[in-house]
Amino acid sequence: MKKFKTLAVVFVFLFCLCGLMTGCDSDSKNDTVKNSVISIKLKYNDNEIPDDSLSVNLSESPLTFTAEVQVTGKASKDFTLTSSDTDIATVSDKTVTLLAEGQTTITATAVGDSTKTHAITLNVTGETETGPVISIKLKYNQQEITDDLLAVIFAANSPLTFTAEVQVTGGASTDFTLASSNTKIATVSGKTVTLVAAGQTTITASAVADPNKKHAITLNAGYSVTVTGGTADITTAIPNQTVTLTPEIPVGKIFLGWKFNLASIQTLTVNSFSMPSRNVTVTLDSGDDKPYYITNNFGEDSSTELLVQWHSYSAPETQTLQYVEKSGSFPGTGIQVTGNQFQGLGNVGVYAPRNIFRTEVTGLSPNTEYKYRVGYEGAWSDEYNHLTSGGDESDFSFTVVSDPQSEAHSAMSATLSAADNFDANHRFYLMGGDLVDNIGGRPGEIISYTNAASEFNIKRPIAATQGNHDTHFIDGSSYRFGGAEVFNAFLTFPDNGGDTQTEKAIRSQCYYFYYNKVLIIMLNTMATSTGVSGEPDYTRQAEWLKGVLENDRNNNLSRYTIVVTHIGPFGGRDNTRWPTAASRKAFTKIFTDYDVDIVFSGHDHVYGRSDPIKITVEMSGKNDNTDYVSMETEGNFNSVPNGTVFSIVSATGPKFYQIVQSDQWVPKFYPVRADNPKDNDPGVFVNVKVTASKLTVTVKKNDGTQLDTYDVTKK
Ligand SMILES: [Fe+2]
Ligand SMILES: [Fe+2]
Repeated sequence: MKKFKTLAVVFVFLFCLCGLMTGCDSDSKNDTVKNSVISIKLKYNDNEIPDDSLSVNLSESPLTFTAEVQVTGKASKDFTLTSSDTDIATVSDKTVTLLAEGQTTITATAVGDSTKTHAITLNVTGETETGPVISIKLKYNQQEITDDLLAVIFAANSPLTFTAEVQVTGGASTDFTLASSNTKIATVSGKTVTLVAAGQTTITASAVADPNKKHAITLNAGYSVTVTGGTADITTAIPNQTVTLTPEIPVGKIFLGWKFNLASIQTLTVNSFSMPSRNVTVTLDSGDDKPYYITNNFGEDSSTELLVQWHSYSAPETQTLQYVEKSGSFPGTGIQVTGNQFQGLGNVGVYAPRNIFRTEVTGLSPNTEYKYRVGYEGAWSDEYNHLTSGGDESDFSFTVVSDPQSEAHSAMSATLSAADNFDANHRFYLMGGDLVDNIGGRPGEIISYTNAASEFNIKRPIAATQGNHDTHFIDGSSYRFGGAEVFNAFLTFPDNGGDTQTEKAIRSQCYYFYYNKVLIIMLNTMATSTGVSGEPDYTRQAEWLKGVLENDRNNNLSRYTIVVTHIGPFGGRDNTRWPTAASRKAFTKIFTDYDVDIVFSGHDHVYGRSDPIKITVEMSGKNDNTDYVSMETEGNFNSVPNGTVFSIVSATGPKFYQIVQSDQWVPKFYPVRADNPKDNDPGVFVNVKVTASKLTVTVKKNDGTQLDTYDVTKK
C-alpha cells in the first residue's frame, strides 16, 4: 500500500511537470495523463433531445435530467444544470422545477471542464387537468346520429364504418370498441359493422379508457321506401314496420290512393302500409282526367230512356254526356250534367272525394243502337253502346246473376263473359245484390266491382239491387238497413221506388222498368220502413209493389213479370233468418195475387228453384218453422197452373255455400239443386228467353255445365 501511494505521487508530479513544460492536452500522445471531458449531451427520461428542444407541460414538473458525458481517463462524468430564466424553471441539482409557461434554456456543464456544455431549449406549456373519460358519442360517416337512431338500407349500405367522439381529460385514451346486440342483424369487427339481415339491432360504443362510458344507438337495417307524389315518415323501413305516407296532391287533383311496384300490395286508399321484405316504390295516384266508374241502367221505359252515371276526380264540375246513333259521329246530342260531391268518411268507409255525375237520357228511339261518351273536351271516356228496347212484344233474352261478393271481381267477369258467350244477344243483366263483401270497410271492393262492371256496361246495362253486404257496416255488424250511401254513389237506377223517397240519395231503393212488355221489378230487401236498425219492415215496399202491379194489370202493360230481390222469401239455406221471414210475410201473397212469373233471389250462394206455387195465406213473418207449417198445410207446394217460380240463383263466384242436412226447408221448395250436395262453383248464370208463349230459363255454370232448365208459360 505504501508502495502504491509513492507511485501515485510520482504520477502527479510527472503530470504537473508535463503541464508546465509542454502545455500538453488530453489528446496528447500519452494516454495515461489525458483525464479530460470530450463531450456532454443532455437527456430527458433517458431519451435524446432532438433538435435541442424539449416541450413539457407544467403538470410534468419536476423534471429530472441525465447527461451523457464522454470523458477520457478518469475525468468526472458529473455535470451541473442551469436555467436561463428562473421565472420559467429553476434548477436544483439535476432537477428542474417548472414554474410557468414560457421558454428557458437549460444548460448542462461538465464538471471538470466548464467549456463542455450542452444547452437545450425547454418549452413549458400550460397546465392541463388529468382525469377520466367524459363522454363518448358514436358517429357514422362523421355525422352525428340524431335521436340515437340510424336507418340504413339493408345490403346496399353494408359494411358500415363508425367513428366515435370520445371526450377525455388528460391523457386518457380516446379509443373505443363496438358491439351489436343482435348479431343476426349485424356483426361487428373492429370499427366495422356488417349487415347480415334486415331488422333492428343496438350498436354500442364503449370507451376503452372507461368501459362504463357508452353510447348506444338503434340501427335500423331496413329496405328503402321511395315515394313519388308525397313523403314517407320512414325512408328506410324494416319488414312489418308500418310506413305512413303523406300525399302531396297537385293543384286540381285529388287523392285516390297509392300504387306500389309490388303485386303483393294492391293500390292503397289509406296512407299507411306494412313494410314488405324488399325495397318499395310508391306512387301517388291522383287520378287522371278521364271519367271513372261508368255504370248504366234503363230508365223506367227502356225503349226511350237510358241512365248513366260516372265519377270524376279532377275535372270540371259540369261535364257532358254526348250520344249519337251508332252510325253517326260525336258530338251528337249533348247533355250538361253538374256533379254532386261525394266523399266517404266515418262509417261509410274512406272514399276519396270526387264528383258524381248522373243523368237520364230521354227521347231515344225504340230498338235503336246508340253510342255515348261522358266527360269533357280533352277528357272523354271510352265509347259505350246502348240498344234501346223495342217497346213492343218482340222476343228477347236477358241474364240473371247474383252475389259476386268479393274483394276482386275476376270471378264475376268470368261468369258474365260465359253468359255473353252462351247468348251473345241477351239485352241486359239483372244483378241480385252483394256486389261486394264489405262496401264500407273495404272501399277497393266497390271500385273493383265497378271497374269490372264497366267493361260489360260498354255493351249492355247491369240492373242491380242491393244486398246486405252492399250496406256500409265498417263497425263489423253485418247488416245496416237503409245504408246505401256508397251503393247509390256507384250504381244508378230509375227513381221510381216507392218506400224510401225521403233521403233517397242515401237510402236503399227499389225500382222497376219495362222491357218489351216485360215488367222487371227490383225489390230492395235492405230498404225498410222503420229506419236503419231493428227487424226489417217491408210494409211500405209491399204497398209500392202492389201499386206497381195494380197499375200494370189495370193498364195491361206487361205480358210477364219478373221480380229480383236479394233476400228471397224462401231462403235457400235457412228458413228462419229474420230477413227471410220478413220478406216472406211482406211479398209472397202479392206475388201470388198478381201472378208474378218468377222471383229470382240471391244471398244464399246456392242454386235452387221451386215449382210454380201459390201462396194463398197471409204469412205471419215469424222467424221460425210455424210459417212453414202453415204454408205446407194451407198453401200448395206442388206445381200449380199460373203459380210463381221462386229461384235462388247462386253466385257468380268466388263464394259458394253448400246445403247441409240441417237445411230442412230447402228440399221442399227447391227440388232442383244441381251438384247436390256440392256447391255451384265456379259461378252460375241464368238465361231467360222471352217469347210470346213462354219464358225459357236455362241455368249454366260458367264451365258450361247445365244446372237446370224450365219453361214458364204465359199466364
Ligand atoms: Fe251474398
Ligand atoms: Fe247476402
